[in-house]
Amino acid sequence: MTTDYKRYMVTAALPYANGPKHVGHLAGAYLPADVYVRYLRQQGKNVIFVSGSDEHGTAIPNQALKENTTPQTIIDKYHVLIRDCLAKLGVSFDIYHRTSEPIHHQTSQEIFLTLYKKGLLTEETSEQYFDEEANAFLADRYIIGTCPKCGHTNAYGDQCEKCGSTLSPKELINPRSTLSGKPPVLKPTKHWYLPLQQYEPWLKEWILESHKNDWKPNVYGQCKSWIDAGLQPRAMTRDLDWGIKVPLPHTEGKVLYVWFDAPIGYISATRALFKELSEGKKEFATPRSAFSNPQVDDWKPYWQHTDTKLVHFIGKDNIVFHCLIFPIMLHASGEYIVPANVPANEFMNLEGDKMSTSRGWSIEMHEYLEDFPTKPDELRYTLLTNLPETKDSEFTWKDFQAKNNNELVAIFGNFVNRALVLTQKHFENRVPVADTWQEVDRKVIDELKLFPERIAESIKAYRFREATAYLIDLARLGNKYLTETEPWKLAKTDLPRVGAVLNLALQIAANLSIVAEPFLPFTSKKLSEVLNFSSKNWSDAGNPSLLKANHQLGEAKLLFEKMEDEVIENQLKKLNDKKKGMELAATPAEPAKPEVSFDEFSKMDIRIAKILKAERVEKSKKLLKLQVDTGMDVRTVMSGIAEYFTPEEMIGKQVTILVNLAPRKIMGVESQGMILMASDKDGKLRMLQPSEAVAQGSKVS
Ligand code: MF3
Ligand code: ZN
Repeated sequence: MTTDYKRYMVTAALPYANGPKHVGHLAGAYLPADVYVRYLRQQGKNVIFVSGSDEHGTAIPNQALKENTTPQTIIDKYHVLIRDCLAKLGVSFDIYHRTSEPIHHQTSQEIFLTLYKKGLLTEETSEQYFDEEANAFLADRYIIGTCPKCGHTNAYGDQCEKCGSTLSPKELINPRSTLSGKPPVLKPTKHWYLPLQQYEPWLKEWILESHKNDWKPNVYGQCKSWIDAGLQPRAMTRDLDWGIKVPLPHTEGKVLYVWFDAPIGYISATRALFKELSEGKKEFATPRSAFSNPQVDDWKPYWQHTDTKLVHFIGKDNIVFHCLIFPIMLHASGEYIVPANVPANEFMNLEGDKMSTSRGWSIEMHEYLEDFPTKPDELRYTLLTNLPETKDSEFTWKDFQAKNNNELVAIFGNFVNRALVLTQKHFENRVPVADTWQEVDRKVIDELKLFPERIAESIKAYRFREATAYLIDLARLGNKYLTETEPWKLAKTDLPRVGAVLNLALQIAANLSIVAEPFLPFTSKKLSEVLNFSSKNWSDAGNPSLLKANHQLGEAKLLFEKMEDEVIENQLKKLNDKKKGMELAATPAEPAKPEVSFDEFSKMDIRIAKILKAERVEKSKKLLKLQVDTGMDVRTVMSGIAEYFTPEEMIGKQVTILVNLAPRKIMGVESQGMILMASDKDGKLRMLQPSEAVAQGSKVS
């Protein structure tokens, strides 16, 4: 194993461009990757960081069906949304590419052909469901039928959402096509398979032996159980009209399997990056001295030289693809390196339940940014302190508030602010001279020197939670130092001592501006401005004399703001409302009542009437007592609508009324008829009114 790497190739999973992405995705892959990459850049390492949209597979046409639009519209919309959110949250890709780009189609087809020409793909014909009316083979999701396990009548070809079983389309009872509604027929079709089982010996050596100690136990464990269970050939092509065409003759209607092309997206993104760099159309996320004159082919060393460290950041549902299938593709093609590590994360829950966009139980990145446009670091910090690194973790709004108020504001912000304010007050905003160090200072200096290495070790070992905890510990060290030395009390008696203390406090702040950069890039930048100190070189950190005496500081700014309870309560309410909305949207309307004859129906006398008077009924929350003009008479109706309408808003309205309902006594008053209203799935009432005013007593039939 090479340990002295010349360059780093870092990838973060390509999100499906089929919908917005939530903060769980951010915590799973993008944030840890960003911390890692920013740290490497500060070390002056040669690193490239890529991601982009995954725009193929059935997920995209599925969503197009739901939104009643085209796949192209879907990917264009969500590519931009996700890309912009990630940028606003500070995720610093060198390129955020997309798999619909021609260069990606070309790269994927090249790799497919390399494998094909080497004879490494096996051709097999099998029977698959085909919709004769739509003239198309059906992807698993396009077949529904009765679940053989629980009897649910709307199970999908790959899964029953009622009982959760994994299914294959042929197991469904009474299958039908979602395209035409007709039963599909089985029809032979040819596909190209990657015989994964042939690579078992290689995988055993490469993962099970070589990476036993340096891969995370959750990742290693999953790989081991897949390998131990025995691998099967896997089809690398699909019958679908959305995707990358199979580059072989007579393959109409066939595309590459989405999990074949998507990871190749990392390579095409790197290729696209260097193409654009070489044409002067693009720049790196940060200036890179190693590349004064980038060339089109400079992507190659990142993917083909063994002195490159390739690291994939993903969520746990992607492990098998990044640790087994994609590496087999790369290895088999003979031209590419395989990952040095795949630090996959587990999942992040939300307020005690699984995060899910479709169930409405999620904080989508764009939703957060709409409500907290100036607080990307506050989210980064809360997520980083809760990363699901070893097991599933949890985001709660209360914790978000606590992390913000008790750590970012009370420790980090407070420390920096105290040091700045005192310097402004007593030393004209210049770094004071420090003549001599006392014992307490020397201890703090010794501590300070340990931090950069400590943080770096955690980052290098992919322990980002721990690294974040060390970062706040450094701020805590500064805060404690000021609390212990109490410079504000000494100003009258010993100004030189105040100067020494502030000097050291400002040195700690300058150190923070460097080591906070991977975690809190926006804050780090602000702090740099405040200190008028711009170095981000990691090698400068640990130094207790970064700021020279008399150095002019910038304008003081608050780094963080306290978050009030109300803000958090609003978010909790918003979350619950969203979930409820989704549930209502997903609940089907009540089934119809048994049939009635026309005669039965025509016995009802339904009219339009006008409300003349309306008043509350004592001791009843639900009832309003109404006087209505039916065109035939003026009568009293007791109506259970008081929870949804005030008496004032009912007066003067035209409503629909059943006039020949037998009179009934309600709370001692005889009610002569019934006002008809539309009721929501959750019981909320709406008036039924004619589209324009009509005479009182007009018939409804
Ligand atoms: N789109 C996939 C998902 O969201 C991830 C693809 S990662 C890649 O689960 F490697 F395939 F690109
Ligand atoms: Zn089932």
